[in-house]
Amino acid sequence: MRKIKVLINEEQINKRLDELAKQLMEEYKGKDLMFLCILKGSAFFTVELAKRIKNNIQFEFIEVSSYENNESTGKVKLNKDITGSIEGKNVIIIEDIVDTGRTLSFLKEYLLQKNPESLKICALLDKPSRRIAAVEADYVGFTIENKFVIGYGLDDEQNYRNLNYIGYVEE
Ligand code: IMP
Repeated sequence: MRKIKVLINEEQINKRLDELAKQLMEEYKGKDLMFLCILKGSAFFTVELAKRIKNNIQFEFIEVSSYENNESTGKVKLNKDITGSIEGKNVIIIEDIVDTGRTLSFLKEYLLQKNPESLKICALLDKPSRRIAAVEADYVGFTIENKFVIGYGLDDEQNYRNLNYIGYVEE
């Protein structure tokens, strides 16, 4: 029987999102923002963070995949591209979790070719012990140990995304 354990509860997430929003508002004072949400895992984080920010925010969505059966394949595939332009904009990539770093390393290179004014990364979670590609998020919600986590957008084979906390499965 699978039992889900709470790693980070809703209250802790909300508090940290308030802090991240405040930091972003200070650093981008008077500027419009472009949130570039990586589907599907970052959808919840993107919306919840954006609601706390007073700057005007535009949104783009991109979908990439590198995971099969909960294992990183090492190859990043672009499933769905952005539809608008990011040229001259202050883009923040909103990511659910930085694991091997391959997704963000691929996306950074890809998006820089589109000439944004600036490009930063904001990740809800960071698992630095798993890093393979040399990439770091500029803003991190929580640094966690090497556990496969679910909830708040993160999935286990497309399940559990709608948990309002971040948990892990105990077999
Ligand atoms: P990376 O390219 O290895 O950094 O992987 C990033 C993507 O893998 C994330 O955006 C997630 O979709 C997925 N991923 C990595 N670790 C986890 C996890 O612990 N739970 C759920 N998805 C994960």
